[in-house]
Amino acid sequence: MPLRCLITAGPTREFFDPVRFVSNPSTGKMGFALAKAAKAAGWTVDLVSGPVSLPEPEGVMFYPVVTSEELMRQTDALFGPCDILIMTAAVSDWRPKQTLPQKLKKDGTAMSLEMEPVPDILAAMAAQRKPGQFLVGFAAETENIEEHALEKLKRKKIDLIAANSVAGAEGAFGNDENTLILLGNNGFRQVLGPASKDKIADLLIQQISHIVSARAQ
Ligand code: C5P
Repeated sequence: MPLRCLITAGPTREFFDPVRFVSNPSTGKMGFALAKAAKAAGWTVDLVSGPVSLPEPEGVMFYPVVTSEELMRQTDALFGPCDILIMTAAVSDWRPKQTLPQKLKKDGTAMSLEMEPVPDILAAMAAQRKPGQFLVGFAAETENIEEHALEKLKRKKIDLIAANSVAGAEGAFGNDENTLILLGNNGFRQVLGPASKDKIADLLIQQISHIVSARAQ
């Protein structure tokens, strides 16, 4: 049986009225590149993506979503049978507490939004994982990259985290090139790149394949 891999990609949109939302600049390039690389490695791939303007990779099951709530529901529905979950989605960490039913009218005065935290999808999947399921997270950081990524690896109780910088114009958001620092919960550390996101995706899928097959021995 081929390995079954669930990949999430892109940003989420959190609406405060029917036409306005809070989001981030994720383009989905890394997640889509991973979906292609996983498919090329012979895996069965489910790709769940927030709104992006990339063509659907061939040969993968594609599930478009918009909000973090939809991303959570779709990921939860597909997680059970998957062997590997790779969460590259840049989930909005907060959402407006209220979504107004009609467009908010402007009246020239300031306005403020009350935001609430969004549930952590990766941590929720880790809490319900079956033995053998391998969970990979991404950490987009603007400073102290490794320290923050290690903290996330432990807090979310996942197997591997891929840390990358999103600081400034050289950062990961939207660029075709990237550098990833892989950190494992057993002290494993490896740097991938700098290289194109396609190349990095191939290397990351190879590395996950290697770890998963070594664990199965
Ligand atoms: O936002 P944060 O830095 O915590 O994201 C780290 C990892 O957790 C990423 O893999 C991201 O997809 C995932 N995440 C999630 N649910 C959230 C926030 C992030 O699954 N609400």
